[in-house]
Amino acid sequence: MESIEKIIEEVLSDLKDASTNEKVSEIRVKYLGKKGLISGLMKNMKDIPQEERPVFGSKVNEIRAKAEAAFQEKTNKLKEAALELKLRSEKIDVTLPAKEVQTGAIHPLNQTYYEVRKIFVGMGFEVVDGPEIEYDKYNFEMLNIPKDHPARDMQDTFYIEDDIVVRTHTSPVQIRTMLKHEPPIRVICPGRVYRTDDVDATHSPVFNQVEGLYIDKNVTFSDLKGVLAEFLRRLYGKSTVTKFRPGFFPFTEPSAEVDATCALCGGKGCPACKGAGMIEVLGCGMVNPRVLENCGLDPEVYSGFAFGLGLDRLTNIKYGITDIRHLYENDVRFLKQFR
Ligand code: DAH
Repeated sequence: MESIEKIIEEVLSDLKDASTNEKVSEIRVKYLGKKGLISGLMKNMKDIPQEERPVFGSKVNEIRAKAEAAFQEKTNKLKEAALELKLRSEKIDVTLPAKEVQTGAIHPLNQTYYEVRKIFVGMGFEVVDGPEIEYDKYNFEMLNIPKDHPARDMQDTFYIEDDIVVRTHTSPVQIRTMLKHEPPIRVICPGRVYRTDDVDATHSPVFNQVEGLYIDKNVTFSDLKGVLAEFLRRLYGKSTVTKFRPGFFPFTEPSAEVDATCALCGGKGCPACKGAGMIEVLGCGMVNPRVLENCGLDPEVYSGFAFGLGLDRLTNIKYGITDIRHLYENDVRFLKQFR
């Protein structure tokens, strides 16, 4: 009887140290398995006096039940412990502050371009595209800038081959458009252009232009003035004053450079306009009859005007940006300001 009581103590102490289900199974086999210690007790029955056998038998059964209960309890405990571990590892602190969501901004160059586009599309212009790698023929020759023409010095060119360049302006898209389409033509051509300039506050080897072209019968300089003055009023405000100064471009005759009231100081004079109150914003002119002829258009029948504006410049004036590099370095601290 004593050894029976001892067995249950051993079971409990073995179980106490068991920390895995495998270990518990092992202990179960040790005591309750077919050849286990508790099962083995019954084999002693034959050595016990007849009258004591019922008491012995019920004692063994009692012990077996106790052991079963102890195993069950241990299994439950292990299960609970595993669950708690799992819950702990999945715990989240709902009181922690949320991560800030970073919203993007439309790049200032695009913001300006979208405005420019909206104004010209509103006046009936269409948007067309051209390649950045361009034939010398389209970038220069057909725009009335022959090989040895001094005007080539105005635009420091990246050459890819003798007759292929990285376009120095968006004007070649004029040529491509006139070769492909019959007048009336009313297009703007936005895009990147390239020159071998060293980088500084006002120069970048890559910048952006928007070219414009209007060809029809009876287009005059007053059409040019009307369209561009209205464009600048819509871009910079109703009170914007424009000044057309004589200029020179090989592809237009006559040519003009256009100043507009400085959008930063409203004409009072500031560092951006060097105190003048006016600032140069674009080049333009009546399409040179030679350029029309180069594209197979009869200058006796058709006339037109063209213009080219620098998007970078318009953007810098509009936002008071004093260094063109900001437009290309994509520093988020700069870009964030345009949300
Ligand atoms: N292509 C000129 C440049 O990049 C800009 C320009 C001036 C374009 C006058 C024109 C124009 O169409 O008429 O400097």
